[in-house]
Amino acid sequence: MTSPVYWHPAIYHRLMKILYGNYFEARYKSIADLIPDYATVTEVCAGDAYLFKNYLKIKNVKYTGLDINSSFVKHGQKNNIQIFEFDLLKDEVPVSDYIIIQASLYQFIPEHEFIVRKLLASTKKTLLIVEPIRNLALSSNRVVAFIAKYSANPGENHKIHRFNRETLMAFFRQFEEFESTKEIEGGRELIGIFRK
Ligand SMILES: C[S@@+](CC[C@H](N)C(=O)[O-])C[C@H]1O[C@@H](n2cnc3c(N)ncnc32)[C@H](O)[C@@H]1O
Repeated sequence: MTSPVYWHPAIYHRLMKILYGNYFEARYKSIADLIPDYATVTEVCAGDAYLFKNYLKIKNVKYTGLDINSSFVKHGQKNNIQIFEFDLLKDEVPVSDYIIIQASLYQFIPEHEFIVRKLLASTKKTLLIVEPIRNLALSSNRVVAFIAKYSANPGENHKIHRFNRETLMAFFRQFEEFESTKEIEGGRELIGIFRK
């Protein structure tokens, strides 16, 4: 069964705000600062498309959000967001100047290398992989730990594998397109910047 975290974007939004606390906005702003005005952007596993609504729309980017969760997609479409139902394991990623995947790569372990190569193949300029490097499911704050644990099931089985800073960096370094990383305030997620 899909985790309650994914039942509706409003629930998801509330829980993410609790999970990331004071650093909630920083996780989106750090990405938006890397995207120029008028760029073509595809975001896979876009969730509630908060990045677009609050940070990219004002930059006049040509945005496409893609997510497997029909509730998120329907809600986004009702709000005039260009977002479509999509399975990253099976469907073709549209070619785009900028491709973004945030807080989602761990869900595809052990297929994560396949996913990154697939995203790189559709990237014209820059791929941004934003990934948690702290497992909040192990937090001493029980509310945070609970949300983190149950935000790991978008519809199939519970996803328990996560990266830490060392394993994520070692993974990034395998790719010749990997250029650098950018820290996000709070230290919970790290942005990997890959250039074509
Ligand atoms: C932890 S959420 C991250 C959402 C958003 N990127 C964020 O950072 O708030 C993971 C997202 O991946 C989506 N997802 C899971 N498996 C997917 C798949 N095979 N194809 C596309 N999206 C998928 C889920 O529906 C969910 O919206």
